[in-house]
Amino acid sequence: MEKLNNLEEKTGSFPRVPLAHLPTPIEQMKRLSAGFDGIDLLIKRDDGTGLAFGGNKARKLEFILADALAKNADTIITWAGVQSNWCRQTAAAAARLGLRSIVVLFRKPGGSTEPDGNLLLDTIFNARVEIVEASAETKMMELSGVAGVIDALVEEEQNAGRVPYVASIGGSRVEGSMTEPLGALGYVEAFSEIFLQTSAMGRVPDAIVLATGSGSTQAGLLVGAMILSPETKIIGISVSEEKETMSRYVREISEATLDLLGVDQRLEEDDVIVLPEYLQEGYGIMTREVADAIDLVATTEGILLDPVYTGKAMSGLIDLIGRGFFPEGSTVLFLHSGGTPALFPYRYDLIKHLDR
Ligand SMILES: Cc1ncc(COP(=O)(O)O)c(C=O)c1O
Repeated sequence: MEKLNNLEEKTGSFPRVPLAHLPTPIEQMKRLSAGFDGIDLLIKRDDGTGLAFGGNKARKLEFILADALAKNADTIITWAGVQSNWCRQTAAAAARLGLRSIVVLFRKPGGSTEPDGNLLLDTIFNARVEIVEASAETKMMELSGVAGVIDALVEEEQNAGRVPYVASIGGSRVEGSMTEPLGALGYVEAFSEIFLQTSAMGRVPDAIVLATGSGSTQAGLLVGAMILSPETKIIGISVSEEKETMSRYVREISEATLDLLGVDQRLEEDDVIVLPEYLQEGYGIMTREVADAIDLVATTEGILLDPVYTGKAMSGLIDLIGRGFFPEGSTVLFLHSGGTPALFPYRYDLIKHLDR
């Protein structure tokens, strides 16, 4: 517990604004586990972080928006896809702190801009919404891929006498106004929380499985695990990038986080576990496997997963268990990272697959 106290002291020394309902509970998925011989499944309910329908971004924004306030910002600028959970929670957090928000939403060819799901919520929070047409070449995960649009907005805001703060997509990469991996810090803290809760249950997980998109949730958990429980594997199911790019994001953010915390330990080659095979047809594309995973967890546990992140991660987890990836007797914790507002804009894809 000394390591835990030291780590909590370190993460606790960063400026932070309260936005999330913490700690979130860990629940046993007894009925779901009953279908899988010898594997005990737990779920960390970060869909219940409380900020605008919850999700993983609330923990990250506590640190990121504290940094924005320290830099005297009055406007948060960020970007992502049209149904972004990150933008929705950023818009909510900005509203709560009396800041303006500008969300640049990249629309894929044929994508809908109906006021539904997260896009509706952005509007309710009075974010300035800029829809930009994305092409196949748009590299949304890095600021360099969208810099033209973001720089123009920064200039416009500065010319109007305002102080913009550019938060990277997903609050992940160290770029824009973020000079530290503050999003990952939220998930180092989350690992401490998980470690404390599961130690009290007498079963620190052998593995944590999560959806990985921009990388800082996985990076934060990985750094937390390296410090507190190196035997716990952090397994990212990629929902957005192929293996090499996604692993590089997680690695870079993890290394920056180790530096930020002043930890000497370095990552070993195989510490970063990113599984790209469940990406299937690509980011945000709903498949039968995802619908089946949503169906199974809803009907065994009464828990809603989402079509883009947690449904895909759960479809991966189910497949991994079936393939004997986890040794018998393993305790596996699934991180529910939120995303449920996207169920509504995906309703027709979902209904098509559900056997009702
Ligand atoms: C619901 C949900 N789960 C998981 C993720 C992935 O988290 P990260 O971007 O930190 O990899 C995201 C965002 O990208 C998300 O919105």
